[in-house]
Formats: sequence, C-alpha cells, structure tokens
Amino acid sequence: MKFTLNLNAKSHTVADLVVVGAYAKPAAKEEAKKTTKKATAKKAATTEAGIVNNHWEKEIKTAFEAVKNSKNFKATKGEKFTFTHNGHEILVLGLGEKAKLESEDLRKELAKLSKDVSKYSKVALQFDGLQTKGNTEDSLQILVEAFTLAAYKFDKYLSDAKKSELKEVVIDSTEKSAKAKKLQAVIDDTLKVTDAINYARDLVNEPPNVLRSTEYAKRIKADVAKIKGVKCKVLGKTEMKKEKMDLFLSVNNGSGFDAQLVHLTYTPAKANSKTKHIALVGKGLVFDTGGYSLKPGGSMMNMKFDMAGSATVYAAFRAAANLGLNVKITCILGITDNAVNELATMPDSIVKARNGKTVEILNTDAEGRLVLADCLDYACDQKPDAIIDAATLTGACLVALGGEVCGLMSNNDKLAQSLLKSAKSADEYMWQLPIIPEWTKDMKGTISDLKNIGSSGWGGTAKAAAFLQEFIKDDIAWAHLDIAGVGDSQSHLPYCPAKGASGTIVRSLLEYLKSNA
Ligand code: BES
Ligand code: ZN
Ligand code: ZN
Repeated sequence: MKFTLNLNAKSHTVADLVVVGAYAKPAAKEEAKKTTKKATAKKAATTEAGIVNNHWEKEIKTAFEAVKNSKNFKATKGEKFTFTHNGHEILVLGLGEKAKLESEDLRKELAKLSKDVSKYSKVALQFDGLQTKGNTEDSLQILVEAFTLAAYKFDKYLSDAKKSELKEVVIDSTEKSAKAKKLQAVIDDTLKVTDAINYARDLVNEPPNVLRSTEYAKRIKADVAKIKGVKCKVLGKTEMKKEKMDLFLSVNNGSGFDAQLVHLTYTPAKANSKTKHIALVGKGLVFDTGGYSLKPGGSMMNMKFDMAGSATVYAAFRAAANLGLNVKITCILGITDNAVNELATMPDSIVKARNGKTVEILNTDAEGRLVLADCLDYACDQKPDAIIDAATLTGACLVALGGEVCGLMSNNDKLAQSLLKSAKSADEYMWQLPIIPEWTKDMKGTISDLKNIGSSGWGGTAKAAAFLQEFIKDDIAWAHLDIAGVGDSQSHLPYCPAKGASGTIVRSLLEYLKSNA
C-alpha cells in the first residue's frame, strides 16, 4: 500500500473513491438549532461542525451542503453516507464531534474505513476533515497506522487468499507544500513502526512446526543484517552451558531443537557517554506444552503464541533502530520450546540459575520465568540504565486484568510511571500490579533458594514477577510486562486482526524508547 501526499490541494484527486470526513455538531448547538431562530442555528451548523470543504468546486459544495442538512445523517462516529457526483464515488464518514474525537477514536474509525474501502484500488482521503483536535502530524501518523495495521493478514498458508485491492491512498490536504518534507517524514517513520509490528505478527502467527527455535533465531539474524548500527550474536546450547544458564536450559531438556539466545545491540550513530542504554528482554517459547506438567489439550491450543513477548521486544528494537533513535538498546530473546520426552525436566527438579540461586521446579508449565531469569541476569551484565521484559507469562494475568490490559510490574516507580505514560500516549491499556514482600517471601523455597510457583495460585501474575525480581542485580531499574492477555485476539481493536497475533505494546515500548532518546 502506497501513501501519496497531495499538498496545497485545490480539489480532490481523481480516484476510485473519494473519502470526506464529517464532524457532528456539538450537542449544545444541536439543541440550539431546535429552540432558537433558524438563522442563528444555521450559522452554528456551518461554522462549528460538518464537512471541511474549503477547496471544493461549487457543485460539490452544494452536494455537501445537502449532506450536512440531511435529517438522517448526523455524522456520528462511523456513520457513512455515499453518493456519486459527476462520476465520482464519494463517501462521507461521520467522526462525531471534533472536540471529543480522541486519537484512538480516529485510529479505530480509520481502521474500519480502510477495511470498507479495500475493494477500491485508489482512494483519495480529504485529510483536512479527517483529523483530531490535535496537530496534523499526529493525525497523519494515526492515518498511516490505521491503514497499515488493519490491512495485515496472515494468509500465507491459504491456497485461495483474498487479496485487498487497495494499492494507493492519496492524502489530499490544503497544508502548504512547504510542509511536504515534514509530513513525508511522518509517513516514512510510521511505516517503519507498522512494518515492525506486522513483522512481529507474522512471527507469532507462524506455526510451531515451522518456527522452531533455530529457525526463529535464523530469521532474526537475517532480518537485522539489513539494519544500520545493529550487532547480532546467537548463543546455542553449548554457549549457554558455558554461560551457566542451566535454568533456561532446563526448559529445553525435552526438546529436539536447541535453545537459542539472541543477543542484539543497537548503537546509535551519535552515541556518547550520556546516551541512555535500555535492555529489552523477551520470552520466546515457540511452543509451550507445559512439559511434564502437561497442559490439557484445550489450553495447549495456540501456545505457539508463547513467543509473543520476544516478538514484541524485537519489533520495538527493529523499529527504534530503523528510526535511528538516539538510545542504545540491548535486546535479548530467550528462545526454546517447552516439550516433553524422557529427558524433559521432571517436577521436583532443583536447578542452579546463572546468578547462582537454586530453584525447585515444582511445575514445568511455569517455564517462562525460568527462561527469563537467566536472560535477565545476562541482561544485567550489559549494565543498562533500565531493563524491560515482555512475556506471555501467566494465565492469571487474564483473570486479573482481562484480555485487553497489559500487566506491568516493577522494582522502580519512576520506570513504571514512565511506561504507563508511554502506554497512554500510544493509546494502549497498561495497569500496574504491586510486588508485595509477602509474595517475594512466598517464592522462597525450603530445600532450595527459590521455587518456581507460589504456594497458591492467587496473585499468580505478580508472584511470577516477584520470582523474576530475584534475578535483577545492582538495583537496576526493571519492569515486567505480562502480555498474556493482549498478545493476541484483540477483537475490540479494528486495527488488530480479530484472531491471532495483535502486535500491541510495541508502540508503547517505542514511546518509552523515544522518551529516552
Ligand atoms: N504460557 C503460559 C501462560 C499463558 C497461559 C499465557 C494462558 C496465555 C494464556 C505459561 O507458561 C504458563 O503456563 N503459566 C502457568 C503458570 C502456573 C503453572 C503457575 C499458568 O498461567 O497457568
Ligand atoms: Zn507454561
Ligand atoms: Zn509459557
């Protein structure tokens, strides 16, 4: 899909479909229209609401006046009105009151619109009337996000995939041509972000018989080879053994495929001693059977998505590096499956972690924390200013926060606040859960330093975080994101596929990285 900017537009571009936005009249004015004299009400209707149509030819202006005065079309959010004029197909899209149109509202409406218009090859959007009350650049970013994220389909295994017809989106705007460079940069930068999100979605949706641990690492290695400033190191079983990552490797015991630790570093061109260094760590379970603590069939279904944490942090890393953000980033992906054979780790096993702590593995299905534990300790050795991990860690997160909210836990309030702020500006739901001393105590063992599950399932999400915190050294600021709920099937978001990988939280992480750049 190509985005073409047409600035200083005097008319609409000739296209298969022309889309015009319409704002609803503010409720008070609507009331005024009923009660006060007609003349006053008419003035309100043309100045405070309706269709931004300052560059249209006379006849089409008259047609829009008719739409504006229509009894039935109120320009409520998502309401549509279609007509043809002089052979042009025109779609008027209601956006509700402009003053109340939040960025996420616009993203959702444009995502729905993009699906509705996918049968057209070329669509011209009248951008002046498709904006929030915020600035033009923000609305343009939202437009590109909505169209490219909503267009995503995982159809490579379908013999008869239906392709979208939409090839070109022209953005007609009365903004001066002097702004061309700035607005084009918004488009290009947004595409770097949504490309990364769609890349992550592909990884998550890939079936486990294709995306083995080794294949996953290979794909990342090939992908980063194209990015400036990025170095890639892949540790296999032998190297990880040397690193004393026995806790991570214990998860890989029952697998026919080597565990892989992908260690990426992005160093910005302008890096100096003041440049911030952020480490991102991701759970990369290409499949989670539960191991000997086997999952029942129903719960095992879709456990290919148990690597979504690693795909999320990788996408944030990829986008940040492609954008050339001025922040150093270490990205650690802990990749393996959790399979069962006669060598698989048995419950009751006691294993020593890379940091020297011993862990009694009472439930082999609580495996993500074992992988992350060694990865977090390894990440600490890179001496970052902060570490953020993302993982589909606990089913309990869905119980606590539902399927729509990302869980956040941290040892550092400033970092937690900063992440919450980043999520807010990315329009993504994130909520902090506490790590209380009682839960830290509950994760201590009796015959080992730690155990990998708490004494009860209550508060399971934050107890898992309490376990992870044991592997953070030197008081490094650390935050854990449990994306078990938001990693897939965000059917309430029209810019996410109803089923499968969502690609959410990448934009939150990017906001965070930008705030450190
Ligand atoms: N990958 C799962 C977590 C999960 C479950 C994510 C359901 C999304 C949906 C994780 O490895 C797991 O199995 N966790 C256990 C932990 C328990 C044994 C303490 C869980 O949540 O049941
Ligand atoms: Zn598990
Ligand atoms: Zn898991």
